[in-house]
Parts: sequence; structure tokens; C-alpha cells
Amino acid sequence: QKIVLAYSGGLDTSIILKWLKETYDAEIIAFTADIGQKEELDGLEAKALATGASKVYIDDLRAEFAQDFIFPMFQAGALYEGQYLLGTSIARPLIAKRMVEIARQEGATAIAHGATGKGNDQVRFELGVAALAPELDVIAPWRLDEFRETFPGRAEMIAYAEKHGIPVTASAAKPYSTDRNLLHISFESGMLEDPWFDPSAASNKDMFVLSVDPEDAPDQAEYIELNFEQGNCVGLNGSRLTPLQVMESLNELGGKHGIGRVDMVENRFVGMKSRGVYETPGGTILFTAHRKMESLTMDREVMSLRDSLISRYATLVYNGFWFAPERLALQALVNESQKNVTGTVRLKLYKGNVIGAGVQSPVSLYNPDIATMEADPTQAYNQGDATGFIRLNALRLKVSAGVQQSTQK
Ligand code: ARG
Ligand code: SIN
Repeated sequence: QKIVLAYSGGLDTSIILKWLKETYDAEIIAFTADIGQKEELDGLEAKALATGASKVYIDDLRAEFAQDFIFPMFQAGALYEGQYLLGTSIARPLIAKRMVEIARQEGATAIAHGATGKGNDQVRFELGVAALAPELDVIAPWRLDEFRETFPGRAEMIAYAEKHGIPVTASAAKPYSTDRNLLHISFESGMLEDPWFDPSAASNKDMFVLSVDPEDAPDQAEYIELNFEQGNCVGLNGSRLTPLQVMESLNELGGKHGIGRVDMVENRFVGMKSRGVYETPGGTILFTAHRKMESLTMDREVMSLRDSLISRYATLVYNGFWFAPERLALQALVNESQKNVTGTVRLKLYKGNVIGAGVQSPVSLYNPDIATMEADPTQAYNQGDATGFIRLNALRLKVSAGVQQSTQK
């Protein structure tokens, strides 16, 4: 039997690798997606082999992640519970997709992951696999009694690692859990479980990875210009960039100016509330710029319809339904809505803020001649028409108010 394991090199998935191999007497194929987690990838292949993997895949999926996952989601303007830019959520379906490809290539019958039984990630991995390869089995060790009995706590895991020569890295000692990629880094658990704990306090500065504290950001604002074509950012300050380059450049800029930190209590799909802290520097700039581009170029009713679906779309991504037919249907609507979202946005980055500083478009729907308080040269709008417009809209309000008055007497 062959099992493809989503392997990060951390303590949990290292132990799972060894445990699966022994428990199922299986060949373990370790797979790590490079989706921009940076230094966490150093020495991974050697480590996986030393831990007992028969084969290791470390695939650079950054370009695909940016182009086919992050960008379509940003066209939709997705935001979960008003704050979360879905940095972890959007990466899971890509990991599931690549695991399925590897499983088929290797003739594996199951995939395995190290997500706990309490979180969202298990759902996202497994719904992704279900949608793409219904024939594959899934093994989630954290949901198995025998696994949890063997590893009731960190101490047992560290002892097992030492016994099997698995190096325990510094990140295993961190008092919180992180997940980093091209879009964000998340922090959960440990001291963050207390919602009164203040992650922005000076004493907690060392936790953050992608951004400086806004208070330490440059005193000088920085202007940038983003070019959009059909709702996608295609250029920065005059140079044309790939989606991957856009994310990398904006992360750099956002990080420097302390942009994109979020601290929230969110609702997990499995029913519990959980506290998360996020750094999404580039994503926050992109999100703001995209909305400003739409303000100039998007039809009112198209915007209203799309906006009414944002929380649905965001919830689908959060809950792991990326490959579900309803997400694809919504995406088709989103794509249609973006056809005219083209032009340039100027922004000012300053101490944690993304400030609009101008927007222009060759296909702008904004017409200053129509909107002007001065005499309108186009004659497109007749102020006298507004009298009838208001009268008809007022009709039902007047009828209902009249009824109220007569019944109250
Ligand atoms: N709460 C966030 C989400 O559900 C972040 C999850 C982080 N995952 C992790 N394995 N550390 O998308
Ligand atoms: C986990 O439980 O494995 C991480 C957190 C989450 O998936 O929500």
C-alpha cells in the first residue's frame, strides 16, 4: 500500500509519517507544496527521507497558487466575517489537487494529512479530495483514537521523535501554531486562545513575521500605482508583473509599512469559535486597490449583485468548497462582473494604512460632466426628471404613513 502524506516537516507531520509507516506497513510518499512558506522548506527532503519516506515531492506551486487560486478569489472580493482574507483556506484546495495527482501517478490508494479533528483544514483537504478523486481513501491520524492515545500531548510526541531520530526544530517549541504561504501567515492557539491577550502589545513583537509593527513603520508615506486588467493586478509602478510577482512585491511593500494585520475571533465550520491573528500585507493592498478600481468601472447593479454574494463565496472558500459546483457557478458570475475592471489605482501606504490617492481608467463609467454641480454640457441628466422619480418612489411611503395616521387617531 502507498499513502501520500501532506508533509510540512514540522513535529506533527514527522511523527505521522513514521506512525503511518509502522501502523499500516505502507510506503509513505511525502508531499510538500511550496506555496511560499520560505525558510520552512530548507532541508525538508533529507528530513522526510530520514524520517522514513520512500519518496519525496517538493513542488513549487507558487505561480499556480497566485494565478489560479489567489487571483480569482480577489476578483470576487472575498472576505470572511468581514475581516479574514482566507490565506490558509485558499491554499488547501491546491494542496488537495496536487496530492490527488501524485496519488494517481504513484498508484497510491490513500492520502493522509496532519490536520486536527477540531479544525477547518481537515474539511478543506478532504472535500477537495472528494471532489477530485472520490476513489481515494483519507487517513486523518488525529481523528483516530489509537493515535490520540499514543500521543496525548507534546511530551509524548517529542519523546517519540527523539526515539526515532526525528529532529525537533525550534518551531515545534513555539507556543502557538503558524501557517505561512504567499498570501499570509496565521497564528493560532497557545497564548492566543485568551481573547483578552493583546497580540499588538510591544512585548509580543517577535511573533510577527511578514510585517513591521505599524508604529515602527516609516514616517514617510510611499506612493504606488497598480494596473488592473479585468479585475486582475497586472502591473506595479509601470512594470508588468505575473500574479506571483504581484504577490511578492506587494508583500514586501505591505510588510514594510505595517499593513494587513488582523486579530479576530472567527467561526470555524465545525461549530466552534477560534481566535486567529493574521498578517496579509500584500493581500490587503490588493483587496483595497481592487475595490477602488471597481468603484470607477463597475456597473451599479452588477456590483450590488456581486456584493450580495461575497459572503456566500467567502464562506464556500472558508468551508472547503472550492471545487464544488456552486463555487464554480459563482466564479462564472464574478468573471463576467470583472470584464470592465481595468485601469490604474494610486495608493499611499502609511503606518498600517492603505489610502486611496487616485484612480483612472480608459473604460471609466464615471462621467464628471453628468455628476458636476456646474451646468451639464451633455444634457444627459435633466434635474426636472428627479421630481417625478422621487414622487413615484414616495408613493408607497405616503400611503403607508397615511394609514398609520388615520388608525392612530
Ligand atoms: N483559522 C484559519 C483558517 O481556518 C487559519 C488556519 C490555520 N491552519 C493551521 N493549520 N495552522 O483558515
Ligand atoms: C487544525 O486544526 O489542524 C488547524 C486549524 C484549523 O484547521 O482550523
